[in-house]
Amino acid sequence: MSKTAALDRIAWDKFSGLSSIEKAPYFVENGRSFHALVAQQFSRPMLEDLCSLTTCVRRISKTRAGSDFLQRQLSDKRAMLYFAQPSTRTYLSFYSACQIIGLQTMNVRDSSTSSEVKGESPEDSVRTFSSYADLIIMRHPEGGFAERIAWMLSNTSRPVPVVNAGSGKDQHPTQALLDIYTLARSFEKTGGIDGKKIAFVGDLKRGRTVRSLAWLLTQYKGVKAYFVAPPELQIGDDILKQLDAAGMPYEISTDFAKVIPEVDAIYMTRIQDEWDVDGESSKIDTSAYHFTKDDLKVLGKNSVIMHPLPRRLEIDPAVDSDPRAVYWRQVRNGMWIRAALILSIFECDGAVRDYCKERNL
Ligand code: NCD
Repeated sequence: MSKTAALDRIAWDKFSGLSSIEKAPYFVENGRSFHALVAQQFSRPMLEDLCSLTTCVRRISKTRAGSDFLQRQLSDKRAMLYFAQPSTRTYLSFYSACQIIGLQTMNVRDSSTSSEVKGESPEDSVRTFSSYADLIIMRHPEGGFAERIAWMLSNTSRPVPVVNAGSGKDQHPTQALLDIYTLARSFEKTGGIDGKKIAFVGDLKRGRTVRSLAWLLTQYKGVKAYFVAPPELQIGDDILKQLDAAGMPYEISTDFAKVIPEVDAIYMTRIQDEWDVDGESSKIDTSAYHFTKDDLKVLGKNSVIMHPLPRRLEIDPAVDSDPRAVYWRQVRNGMWIRAALILSIFECDGAVRDYCKERNL
């Protein structure tokens, strides 16, 4: 694997001033992600490749011989899981993904157990992790931190890939990938993602999953987005400008009840009150943005309800048993697509596809 050609040729000051769209080419080499940091780096062909590789991995894993084959793919590599923010699904799905493809893992889940408490800079801490690991998977409260680390490592003699497992309020690219895979599978028999209407509901201002997924949807033809939230929690202008530039139509709405019967997918999110400065979101009435059992009656018969989880009151658990509720499938798809992404970063995708093809999987 060659190191990123570009990131070591651009000064940090210049690089950090670029938009996500402008940064994207620095993370991709010959149509393949080296680092996986922003949704904007994934083109339609890359998304389709990744989804088909994910299906391959899923099918191969069904037999012991297949699982053994997958575990041999990266048994010579180690991954560092550095999670400086709470996580259940993202952490466990990356951990499971690494096990599926044979990568050994180390973890730091709490900066207070590393030398950061002794005054070490976060950059030096991650550089230390990179001395023992061949891949860094990281979640961090600071937006853009994973990009800074990728730039820093690309300018050392050990430029290991960095995967962003959630950064601040801005990006959660691998969640968006698993969401795309779930949408693609849900609409397999109804023409795929192209032409679909997709509503985002809840805290769109501070929800990084929505920001990443909204961009990925610009890669599909004729998709329309609905951003449904109280005005104080509406999606940021920076994302809307990107959607405008990409020519993707969208509606801004406060009327969830009206939107439910009109759309093919509803992406629910929780209030991200960990970002409150003074408990401000507790003063907003969000009860009209909850999905209840009654709402199932007006939801289209081929439509789906999604949620990155964790949920609070946004979706009544009584909805879970409806076949249109696909959030538990999202959870499992996350494991498969993260395994596929890592295989692709390490250029093992060809061997995996061949295994699938030879056995007609
Ligand atoms: C999301 C996150 O961390 O941004 N969770 C996840 O990774 N599945 C959503 C959230 O915390 O609300």
